[in-house]
Amino acid sequence: MKILGIETSCDETALSIVECSGDLANPKFEVIDWALDSQASLHAEYGGVFPTLAKREHTKNLPILLDKILENKNLKDIEAIAVTQGPGLEPALWTGIVFAKELGEKWNIPVIPTNHMEGHIISPLIHNKNKIEFPALALLISGGHTQLVKVNSWGSYEILGETVDDAVGEAFDKVARILGLPYPGGPEISRKANKSREHRNESSFNFPRPMMHTKDFNFSFSGLKTAVLYTVKKIPHLTENIIEEVAHGFEDAVTEVLTKKTIKAIEEIGANTLIIGGGVVSNTHIRETFEKICKEKHIELLLSDKTVATDNAIMIAAAGYISYLKNPKSYDKKNDFKAEGNLKL
Ligand code: KG4
Ligand code: ZN
Repeated sequence: MKILGIETSCDETALSIVECSGDLANPKFEVIDWALDSQASLHAEYGGVFPTLAKREHTKNLPILLDKILENKNLKDIEAIAVTQGPGLEPALWTGIVFAKELGEKWNIPVIPTNHMEGHIISPLIHNKNKIEFPALALLISGGHTQLVKVNSWGSYEILGETVDDAVGEAFDKVARILGLPYPGGPEISRKANKSREHRNESSFNFPRPMMHTKDFNFSFSGLKTAVLYTVKKIPHLTENIIEEVAHGFEDAVTEVLTKKTIKAIEEIGANTLIIGGGVVSNTHIRETFEKICKEKHIELLLSDKTVATDNAIMIAAAGYISYLKNPKSYDKKNDFKAEGNLKL
């Protein structure tokens, strides 16, 4: 079944065509084509995503990307459209939903409303193609979310814990801003921290590890960001060296909290598989630390390939297929669903 995926929840306009096959126990995905337009540089001057600008850009980009992706393809092959229903910025989500509904009507095929977070959970499967063992634990680390999710089977999820304030990616972006680095801050912080790691194993900045030892599986990153702010405010002249070392200390604090809590959750639910999805998976230090720990503890680790770690429409087509398999009859072309900014898994 060929599915056209559409993603507009934040600042990436993305489309994909994915050949989906297999059943819920062993879904398979083959990427036929994808197109993506990132607005990150346009939002940079606002230091974050500006919803009205995102909406305008999605509306402009969607038909351009569609033409590009349909070039040399047989339209009749596309059997369904999967579109992000939420969570995300509602004005941005609506642009994709309206576009998908119009296409669905024109082509007379079903439109599958899709959960963006399910997309992040399933993204590591796109290139690994593993049949996974359940229950699995998914750690979702993006600009909007930080969640630990028990995956009972594809399409059946339980949120074990989440951030009580800032998401991890958001903390990276805010700390980058404190250090005078451009948006999106994650890759910038990562580069600076890696420079510092070339010279020293440990940063001289030892930042707090909020909620690391609490019994629950929730996270908090706002206090860590404030600790960085107070530290930086006391430094009269921020040299390149200091920026690199602060980034190093911050990244270490985040990594330790994420790994400790994740391993605790894995042990509690008795899972042998860890899935990590979301834009922050691109962080080399976080990836490498998880790789090392999982190897030591004999946990199978599935990380999103970097091409599908950040927001994209390949994962949306894949998650749409899972929803379709779970409930094929529910897509009766009525298309009466709405954007849901706070959509839960
Ligand atoms: O999943 P994503 O593309 O969008 C959301 O759904 O939020 O994640 C974007 C987030 C941003 O906060 C960005 O700073 C962060 O992922 N990010 C990183 C890195 N690359 C992207 N954070 C840390 N290190 C990176 N290398
Ligand atoms: Zn995302």
